Amino acid sequence: MKQHQTPKTIHLQKYCKWVGVMAIALLLGAAAPCKMTETAPTKVSENNLPPTTIEIIAINGSPRTNGNTAEMCNHFLEGAISANANVHTTIINLYELDFKGCKSCFACKLKNNSSYGHCIVEDGITKLIEQVSQADGVVFASPIYLGDITGEMRSFLERLLFPYLTYQQEPRSVAPKRMQTAMIYTMNVTEQGYYDQKYDEKLAVMENVIGRIFQQPVSICAFNTYQFDDYSRYYADRFSEPDKASYKTEHWALDCQKAFDAGKAMVETILK
Ligand SMILES: Cc1cc2nc3c(=O)[nH]c(=O)nc-3n(C[C@H](O)[C@H](O)[C@H](O)COP(=O)(O)O)c2cc1C
Repeated sequence: MKQHQTPKTIHLQKYCKWVGVMAIALLLGAAAPCKMTETAPTKVSENNLPPTTIEIIAINGSPRTNGNTAEMCNHFLEGAISANANVHTTIINLYELDFKGCKSCFACKLKNNSSYGHCIVEDGITKLIEQVSQADGVVFASPIYLGDITGEMRSFLERLLFPYLTYQQEPRSVAPKRMQTAMIYTMNVTEQGYYDQKYDEKLAVMENVIGRIFQQPVSICAFNTYQFDDYSRYYADRFSEPDKASYKTEHWALDCQKAFDAGKAMVETILK
């Protein structure tokens, strides 16, 4: 038998429904910021193999998650996967994480302290530093900003590398693993401009620090990249879109192939 409902019970039911909807909305609202606060790095490409396999990580130091640098990272990881069925790949978009560079606290250099050789700062890259330190191979990829890697990539590398770099005569590094490394750079300048402006010398400084702690990186460059989808919308008369387009047609696929080959070669070296 259908129960009779007074206006009061109907009102109460409506109120309960409203409270329920609000509770769900609040829960969803609470969950969303957790996802945004980035502790779990974004896994873009993954082939669902157990973590005991060969771990290759690409760090994308560009704010554009679908830009030139991200595309090169994806080709590098595809190359790595092509080399062996047991390769597990991850791409991390640094700009999605909330972190700062080294704070110069020197906890990583303290005597008789468990913090020796570790970064004690807790933020959005704390887990990532651990994950990268245990990987078998890492590619650090960055667009060139004002003649160097991006600020985010540099801040990340300060936090990753400085704790492992000792101030002792011996050992010079306390990194848990000397994994294979590579660099990917994408930039607006032509290959000629790259050497004329001594980008190679500038970038070699960080590459050599990486090489002292992990393995010396191989580096892959993509020159004269496209910055905008449509050059006519921007004040940029130093660049000719037709010239950029024809350069892209001739070179971009080759640049991506170089990244693919480097990823494949990295895994082959690991397996030797
Ligand atoms: C802030 C900023 C500074 C840049 N500085 C340089 C530079 O000094 N030299 C250069 O060759 N390209 C420079 N570029 C161009 C980018 O390096 C190039 O377009 C790159 O391929 C962008 O990569 P992405 O698509 O992954 O973001 C700069 C771009 C930006 C946004």
